[in-house]
Amino acid sequence: MESFLDRLLADQRAAAPRSSAPPATTAEDADAGLPPDDAVAVPSGLEAPRIAIYDTLTSPPRVIAVEEEDLPALIASLAEKTYRHCREQGGQVPYSVIQELIENLLHACFRDVVITILDNGQTVRISDHGPGVDDKDRVFLPGFTTATARQREIIRGVGSGLPLARESLQFLRGILTVEDNLGSGTVFTIKMPSSPEAQPAQEPAPDVRLTTRQIKVLVLLMELGSAGPTAIARELGFSAATVYRELVVLQDMGLIHSSGDGKRALREEGLRLLDSIL
Ligand SMILES: Nc1ncnc2c1ncn2[C@@H]1O[C@H](COP(=O)(O)OP(=O)(O)OP(=O)(O)O)[C@@H](O)[C@H]1O
Ligand SMILES: [Mg+2]
Repeated sequence: MESFLDRLLADQRAAAPRSSAPPATTAEDADAGLPPDDAVAVPSGLEAPRIAIYDTLTSPPRVIAVEEEDLPALIASLAEKTYRHCREQGGQVPYSVIQELIENLLHACFRDVVITILDNGQTVRISDHGPGVDDKDRVFLPGFTTATARQREIIRGVGSGLPLARESLQFLRGILTVEDNLGSGTVFTIKMPSSPEAQPAQEPAPDVRLTTRQIKVLVLLMELGSAGPTAIARELGFSAATVYRELVVLQDMGLIHSSGDGKRALREEGLRLLDSIL
């Protein structure tokens, strides 16, 4: 187990910095002909990204600040530490998904980054106080990107990370959602299904009967992570009013919750119920 993990991390470390280019703040920027205004400083001290690990929700988390000399090293180190702590807690969040979301902190200039590990490592929340994400649907489509030339020194910058992350999670029945952070910025949440060991036997799937339409709505939410009534109506070919009514019913049943900006996402109970149906 340990040797496999070390091997995996070594492989990923080798693959992580997608360029050997120097950090964006060096004097060589001028030589590269890139404008200085989108340079990202390497955060340190009180500005360093932090990982908060919750052993239980009744005691304060362990908090680790992560500092490195340059941005590629910071990305690799944050991804590795996050993955390692998740695994230590018994979590199964894929390394590649963690890495994509941590690379994306470049879009937020690594401002006030907090990575939270919860639910025995099955939930990872990555938050920042960057510019935020306006269009929370299109960021999950391949090819939509705001990556600049300077950012492409470090990341691919072709708008591939979020679609890849969501697709690979789908296979594992995990979900990836995006919400506005408090104040400004973004919160991405990766949520894996509870493992059989972590899921107490006394928590069976909720005993409720669903219509085919309600099941379709739940399945769509599982696929998309989160969606609003209009998008759901468009995808399923129902009227927006019908979808809205169904969302209210599903929310009352405790199967979905509001994920901010009018969208709904599956709750753990919804995921378990779908699991028992499908
Ligand atoms: N934490 C964030 N803060 C602000 N914007 C973000 C954040 N994460 C993602 N985005 C936005 O979502 C877009 C799509 O992200 P995605 O990971 O799919 O592609 P990318 O990072 O641009 O390129 P690639 O992943 O191929 O290197 C980004 O270009 C950016 O506009
Ligand atoms: Mg990306």
